[in-house]
Amino acid sequence: MRISVVKEVLLLEKRVALSPDTTAKLVSDGHDVSVETGAGLQAGYPDSLYVDAGATMVDAATASGTPGLVLAINRPAGPFSAGQTVLALLDPLWRPEESQALGQGGATLISLELMPRITRAQSMDVLSSMSTVSGTEAVLLAARRLPKLFPLMMTAAGTIPAAKALILGAGVAGLQAIATAKRLGAIVEGYDVRPAAAEQIRSLGAKAVELELETSDSEDAGGYAKAQSEDVAARQLELLAHHVSEADVVITTAAIPGMASPRLITTDMVEAMRPGSVIVDLAAERGGNCDLTKLDEEVIHNDVLILGPSDMASWSAQSASQMFGNNLVTLIRHLSDDGELVIDLDDEITAGIVVAKDGEILHPRVRGALGLESPSS
Ligand code: NAI
Repeated sequence: MRISVVKEVLLLEKRVALSPDTTAKLVSDGHDVSVETGAGLQAGYPDSLYVDAGATMVDAATASGTPGLVLAINRPAGPFSAGQTVLALLDPLWRPEESQALGQGGATLISLELMPRITRAQSMDVLSSMSTVSGTEAVLLAARRLPKLFPLMMTAAGTIPAAKALILGAGVAGLQAIATAKRLGAIVEGYDVRPAAAEQIRSLGAKAVELELETSDSEDAGGYAKAQSEDVAARQLELLAHHVSEADVVITTAAIPGMASPRLITTDMVEAMRPGSVIVDLAAERGGNCDLTKLDEEVIHNDVLILGPSDMASWSAQSASQMFGNNLVTLIRHLSDDGELVIDLDDEITAGIVVAKDGEILHPRVRGALGLESPSS
């Protein structure tokens, strides 16, 4: 197959869809890999490393215009046509019209965030690998901005108490944040609406916050959280208030796929926090878990710093690109038969991630988001 890697266009994006190492894996599988000039530079991968890995460097028009697979992290600009298959984070549930426009020329669109949450698909799941990086980076960012040390220090100059970190949402990013905050020596509490998460929080040595809420119906069949009723959400805020006010650092990661982020920290709750405390809201792109979050801006309210970064995975762009590339290599192997691309919609993984083919949106949830009836074929 011909495989092209395009350079990312978003301002804060430093990752690249394939690292040199993962490029070499595809080349040794017999594929013809082209990489847009400079695509890996911001991740610390100069063009020469891709050439050494067996790739050809090409200009932007060639990278996005060549038939075959087109790989990107974020939704590429296009246009793409029949004979091309785009693999990227297309965000088709939140921005369905943009996927519809991208698929109009007849390209097959594969959206990586739709990967089913099944054991077999774990090694192809970029959401998990990128959340692993973001969860780690969010804690490092908070530690840098908090005017306190994380660990307990008993020194000749007195005893400095350990910082308190509260992690809201204990999925992949949240659990990684808990592990990182523990490693840095903070006293850590974690909370998730899914009761199953409590055991995972405790297994990392943190305290699981358990609220008296009716949450037995909080998880869908795919392992994701469902939106809570208004009553449950209001009670959740009331019960969380005390934990938030006690924390020096709050990392929020709570998300519901394809929906606005649940609201977990109100302005009143921020006002009850100690001056100097830091909130890092990883859910900022979907409106945030904190009322005061502004995407990619720093907000200071009552001496509390609220950060809503969208680019945490780019802070470790090299590791993130390596993981993203490995996920893509596994996925491309899954989608190939004898070196050729096969879109088998009877396969659970393929059916889960294909958004559009031959100019038509096929994915039922994306069709639903566009207000279209069930698929015509
Ligand atoms: P996510 O990014 O969609 O959400 C993050 C977390 O926020 C989730 O744990 C969710 O329960 C929590 N949340 C949502 N609303 C909340 C609220 N109101 N209050 C508190 N917390 C709230 O989810 P993520 O991290 O991608 O993973 C969710 C689940 O999927 C986990 O159980 C994870 O272990 C599982 N998983 C399975 C995989 C597989 O089998 N291939 C791969 C990755 C994750």
